[in-house]
Amino acid sequence: MATYPWAAGYVDDGDRPKIVTARFEHEDSYTITRYHATEGYAGLKAALTRTPGEVHDEVRGATVLGRGGAGFPAGTKWGLMPPEKYPRYLVVNGDESEPGTYKDRLLMERDPHQLIEGCLIAAYAAGLSQVFLYIRGEMPLAHERVATALNEAYAAGYVGKNILGTDFSVDIILHWGAGAYVVGEETALIESLEGKRGEPRLKPPYFPAAIGLYGQPTIVNNVETLSNLPWLLRNGVAAYTAIGTETSPGTRMVAVSGHVARPGVFEIVNGTTTFRDLLFGDEFCQGIRDGNSLKAFVPGGGSAPWFTPEQLDVPFEGRVAGAAGSMLGSGAVMVMDDTTDIPTAALTLTRFYAHESCGQCTPCREGGTWLMRVLERVVEGQGTRADLDQLLEIGESICPGKFPHAANSALGLEATPFPYKMTTICFVGPSAYAPVHSALTHFRDEFEARVADTPARRQIPVTAVH
Ligand SMILES: Cc1cc2nc3c(=O)[nH]c(=O)nc-3n(C[C@H](O)[C@H](O)[C@H](O)COP(=O)(O)O)c2cc1C
Ligand code: SF4
Repeated sequence: MATYPWAAGYVDDGDRPKIVTARFEHEDSYTITRYHATEGYAGLKAALTRTPGEVHDEVRGATVLGRGGAGFPAGTKWGLMPPEKYPRYLVVNGDESEPGTYKDRLLMERDPHQLIEGCLIAAYAAGLSQVFLYIRGEMPLAHERVATALNEAYAAGYVGKNILGTDFSVDIILHWGAGAYVVGEETALIESLEGKRGEPRLKPPYFPAAIGLYGQPTIVNNVETLSNLPWLLRNGVAAYTAIGTETSPGTRMVAVSGHVARPGVFEIVNGTTTFRDLLFGDEFCQGIRDGNSLKAFVPGGGSAPWFTPEQLDVPFEGRVAGAAGSMLGSGAVMVMDDTTDIPTAALTLTRFYAHESCGQCTPCREGGTWLMRVLERVVEGQGTRADLDQLLEIGESICPGKFPHAANSALGLEATPFPYKMTTICFVGPSAYAPVHSALTHFRDEFEARVADTPARRQIPVTAVH
């Protein structure tokens, strides 16, 4: 067993295949010396011996799923750009702010050259002439390490004009975000790069692949997605798809927090590893802390509907998790044991999303705040039974049809596969409601015990926070 204090939370245990964290065992994993000593830039060199189309086919053939949240295959996304429209850009999403998620930070701190090499491979394959690396503002070490690695890569001829003596040229521009959660949404990130307020754009009709940064075709990919490419180019599609399952090949990084004996970031085999393996396996989290029992867990970042012990055997396979009523999202699992006060846990998450609303859409701006305020008074013991129905009613205005409320017999709340129906431009609105809905679905008794049995709705003014 090895834990690396310099990798802050990363745990390497067991004999599993490692694709993106293989270098983490070295204390100097972020230096170009270590990178060269461990096959660094061999993937780029292999790519440059092939045509861009061949490299693109390889990424498509390996079904490299996006690791930023939606799980869309990278090769397919690159193919959505209109042909013959140039320049076209790659934007690297290193904004990582989803509650519970802290894997991309480790990749940037511990292996920045791997990310840079991944960017170069993507740029070569998809004909991208400039890369914008957007790193969250609160990650100074990641910024420092990526900046140093970038200077080293320029000096060594991996980035810039005529890379390694070929006619392939690309520049990588580092941009430091200012710390807004919503800027992780790809179109808000593009707005932010353009120097505007970081607010999501309405889509459809135009996705970034068609009209993105500066109105040009743009690919937005997550840090972990791109970090997979050097290994893929070195080892080939067959080796990549030999790990995991047909629809979820390779590995993925998962950040586990909360009430487990050993929280941390783990690189797990995609598709086959189950939540039970992760939470109770010896090589992973080693069970619930202090001998307590599992009450619930959030399977894919704070936006995801919660699972209970009944879903422990769901594997890390997007479609299965979707059919079970949630999502794998950004690879963050938050665990709650039987000592957890559920209404308070729901409030903590809802408060975050209400605070992070950019304010463009009324259901998110007002609805998120209302959810938070009503939940606050329930948690404080000032709520009524009618407040519980009101929470569902507010949720209905954000996610219509998904969450039948009081009209439904016995509040028959149903788990519905993703995506949500929503009245908002982006997913922040539904994210404010997901914890409330999950908590009320599974643990309504804890709310009932908190509220006065008042049949009529009280009219308590709700104060806006914006
Ligand atoms: C509110 C919101 C926040 C998001 N935050 C991030 C983020 O921090 N990092 C990320 O990679 N994707 C984030 N996403 C998903 C991105 O919009 C986009 O799908 C992703 O960067 C695409 O990369 P991938 O295809 O490689 O996963 C967020 C989405 C939403 C709606
Ligand atoms: S859903 Fe919320 S965060 Fe997203 S665009 Fe609308 S107001 Fe902004």
